[in-house]
Amino acid sequence: MKRLITLTVNGETHQVAVEPRQSLLHVLRQELHLTGTKEGCGEGECGACTVFLDGKNGRRLPYFCGGGRWP
Ligand code: FES
Repeated sequence: MKRLITLTVNGETHQVAVEPRQSLLHVLRQELHLTGTKEGCGEGECGACTVFLDGKNGRRLPYFCGGGRWP
């Protein structure tokens, strides 16, 4: 079941319906069409999907490139 979330990216606020296991990387690229964030390993190792979350580098959080759940 999709869940409606609100997120602010680069100062712009968006409401997006996401699946529980949908990655932040997928939401950024597919739903918001922000393709600057790339997928590399898809396992949290390479850092290609790095984004800043609340002003901090959050690359190690599992929901960025996949496999995790939304906080
Ligand atoms: S794609 Fe490699 S860390 Fe996310």
